[in-house]
Order: sequence, then C-alpha cells, then structure tokens
Amino acid sequence: MKPHILQLNPILIPSINDKLNKRYTMHRLFEQSDRDGYLREHGASIRGVITGGHTGIGRAMMEQLPALEVVAVNGVGTDAVDLEYAKSRKLPVTGTFGALTEDVADLAVGLLLATCRGICSGDRFIRAGEWVRKPQPSAIPLARRVSGMRVGIVGMGRVGRAIAARLAAFGCPIAYTDLRAMDDVPQPFVASLVDLARQSDALILAAAADKAEGIINAEVLEALGPNGYLINIARGRLVNEDDLVAALRAGTIAGAGLDVFVDEPNVPEALFDMDNVTLQAHRASATHQTRTAMGEMVLDSLAEALAGKRPAFSLTT
Ligand code: 8YV
Repeated sequence: MKPHILQLNPILIPSINDKLNKRYTMHRLFEQSDRDGYLREHGASIRGVITGGHTGIGRAMMEQLPALEVVAVNGVGTDAVDLEYAKSRKLPVTGTFGALTEDVADLAVGLLLATCRGICSGDRFIRAGEWVRKPQPSAIPLARRVSGMRVGIVGMGRVGRAIAARLAAFGCPIAYTDLRAMDDVPQPFVASLVDLARQSDALILAAAADKAEGIINAEVLEALGPNGYLINIARGRLVNEDDLVAALRAGTIAGAGLDVFVDEPNVPEALFDMDNVTLQAHRASATHQTRTAMGEMVLDSLAEALAGKRPAFSLTT
C-alpha cells in the first residue's frame, strides 16, 4: 500500500506532482471544501505532510495525525511549524535549505533596484499613457543611485551572504547584524539594529522570523531616516507594518521593496498608491528552477523518513 501524504499547499511543478502521485496516495487539503471534515476522515492514515514555509503546521493539526512520521517544508522558513511539539513526537521537520538561496538574493537586489530606480512606477507611467501627456523630463522625479549605497543586512545566513556577494559587485559597503557576530563573515558586524539602520542607506531583511518578530519598528525606521530604504524578502512579521506604513506616509523613510507581509495575501492598502513602494506577492523562490529543486528535496525527505532513516535536512531530529 502506498503511504498517505497530506499536502497543504499546491506545488506548481508537474514533474514533482507526477512523482508524488506515483509514489504516494496524495491528500491535497487545499482542494477540499470541508477541510476539517476531510482531516477527520483521513487524518489517521497520514504518514507525511508537505507544507509551505509560510503555511507551516501547528500543533492542533499535527495532533489530528497520529501516524505522522515527517513534516517536509517546501521552503526554508520553519517559523510557522510548532517545532517543539514536533520534537516532543520525535518527528523530523525538513526544509529545502540551500535550494532557494540564489533566487531569494536575486529578488532582494531586484527590489532594491526597482524601488530606488522607480522601475515599476516608470512602467506604470508609460502604460497609463502619461509619458505622451507629460513628455517633459521633470514629470518623473530623479531616482536614487544603487551603486555604492551603504547596505545593512539583517540576518547573515545563506540568503544574507548571497545578497552581500551580489551587492559587492555594485560597490556597496555592507555591514550586518544577527544574533551574534560570525567568524566566517568578512563584513563588519553591528550588534544594534538601530545603529545598523542609522549607518545604512538601505536595510535588507534576510532573517528568520522565529526570534525576531516586529524588530523593524518606528525607532529603527526613524534611524534609517528620510533617505533610507527597507527591503524585505524574509517574513512579513519581522516588520511592525503599522509603523512601516506610518513611516512611509510621513517620509520618515524614502521607500520600501516588499515581497512578504504580516497577513498574506492581505497587503495594507495604504501602500497601493505609494510610488516609492515596490510590492511582490511572496515570489522570491518562485522560479521553475528553484521550485523544481525544492520539490526534489521534499521528495527526498519524504522517502528518507518513510524508509525509517533520518532525513538529511531534518531540523528536529
Ligand atoms: C516559499 C518561503 O514561498 O522558503 C520559505 O520559507 O516562504 C518561500 O520560499 C514557500 O515556502 C513555498 O511553499
């Protein structure tokens, strides 16, 4: 009998879905209208869960899955998984560590460029026929140079380091903050986030959210200052969104590039008409190449765990 797997989010790569369908009896919860009823009916048979980084899985759902042997996160963020509960049941919780680093770093740089150079607002200007109506160059404000910007990276893990490597090519002096200084990172460590914000032209968030909820607040934004930009490709809840909206409205900071939000897919509407803000719908790892690599890692983790082995990318066992 094929093992039963509960999948909480869609996977957009056909070859990965084909392999899942071949190897397992798949229960795609996102396709069900009565999810509670579906779980009551099938929960006892489930041996593995596939979830997204942002969705995770809480204790209440895991408790409905008594035969569970593995939680495979199709992503690197495990902040939405109850890791302590998983540990108490000796459940491996795996991630796709390393698979999405380059794409997420690419999007961070893309958001910095798009926001500082007004790429999306310029595109909107042309599509709306505004260039023809207002052909004078002063119709579009001058932009902010990215090359040479002083960049502060918050969270110097795999993604933070990949962002630093890219921005080195732009001649950007980089500093970082994290829970501690790292011996293998050449860039200067700044212990205080407020100090890092004060000395940066742009702050880029690349931290895990578990221990850092709301760290970007009014004080940090004030320190970043009226010429400073905030880029977030990590988790929405690193940021106090009310403080961010207030800072953008008041000109406390110059602009923001955001791929992630506190309550996705709900984005504060106040941001919609701000031309100094670039918005993305949590897309940093969303390329064919990376999602294929992530899907293969999910398949490996399921196979390892269900064969009774410790999955190579387990965080909890
Ligand atoms: C994904 C993510 O969008 O890795 C993460 O933690 O949030 C993203 O890469 C998501 O996990 C896709 O399922």
